[in-house]
Amino acid sequence: MLQTINNIVILTGAGVSAESGVATFRGPDGLWEGHRVEDVATPEAFVRDPALVQKFYDERRAKLKTVEPNAAHQALARLDRTWAGELLLVTQNVDDLHDRAGSQRLLHMHGELNSAWCRACDAHFAFEGEMASGPVCPHCHVPGCLRPDIVWFGEMPYQMERIEAALARCDLFVSIGTSGAVYPAAGFVQTARYHGARTLEMNLDPSEGSFHFHESRMGKAGELVPDWVDQVLSHGLC
Ligand code: APR
Repeated sequence: MLQTINNIVILTGAGVSAESGVATFRGPDGLWEGHRVEDVATPEAFVRDPALVQKFYDERRAKLKTVEPNAAHQALARLDRTWAGELLLVTQNVDDLHDRAGSQRLLHMHGELNSAWCRACDAHFAFEGEMASGPVCPHCHVPGCLRPDIVWFGEMPYQMERIEAALARCDLFVSIGTSGAVYPAAGFVQTARYHGARTLEMNLDPSEGSFHFHESRMGKAGELVPDWVDQVLSHGLC
C-alpha cells in the first residue's frame, strides 16, 4: 500500500559504512577488529585496561582519515538537502562519513570518534589525534582525563528524548545496515509502528528484528539506498 509521507526517521548502522572500508561490529568471527566488544566497548574495560581501549579508538580514529563516504551516505545527504518535510537521520556509527557526505539533520546516538569527553570537567568537544598519550583538556587543563566520546555497553545513548519524539511523529521509518542486535536502537521499528509509521529495512541480510518491518530489501546499501532515495524524491511515496 502506498501512502503520502512527510516525516521520515532513518536509522543507520555499521552496514552503511561497510562499502567505505569501515569494519562492521559483528564480523563473521563475532569480533570487532579482532577484539571482543567486552574488552573495548564497556566502561569496565576502560577501567581495567585504559591503554588498550585508548589505543583501539586511536586506531579507529586514524583509520577515518583513509576512508570516504560511499553512495549510500551521499544519497542520504541528497535526501536531507532536498526533503521539505521533517527528517532525522539517527546513526549508531561513530565514524564521520554521514557528516562528510553533508547530512545536516543528523544525530550520533552512540557518540563520535572525533569527539572527546573530559572526565575531570565533563566537557564534550571535537577531538583529532591520539588520546593514549594523555593530552591536556583544553577546557580544564587537567592532563590524562580524556576518554573517547563513545557510548559503550551499559551507558545511555545520546538524545533519546529527541529520537523518541521524532519516532512518534514519523510516518516512515527506515533502517539501513544494522543487525538489530543492540537496544534501544533495535526497538525503534516497534516504536515507529506503534505510532502508525510505515517501516522499511535495507540490509545485506535479514536483521534480528526483520519480521517487524512492513518491507525488507536485501542487498548492499551502496546500491539499495540511492535507488530508494530516487524513488522517494520522484514519487514522495514509500
Ligand atoms: N550494505 C548493507 N548492509 C550491510 C553491508 C552493506 N554493504 N555490509 C554489512 N551489512 C549489514 C550486516 O549484514 C549486518 O546486519 O550490516 C549489519 C551490521 O551489523 P553490526 O556489525 O552488528 O553493526 P550495528 O548493527 O551497527 O551495531 C550496533 O552495536 O557494538 C555496538 O555500539 C555498537 O553501534 C554499534 C551497535
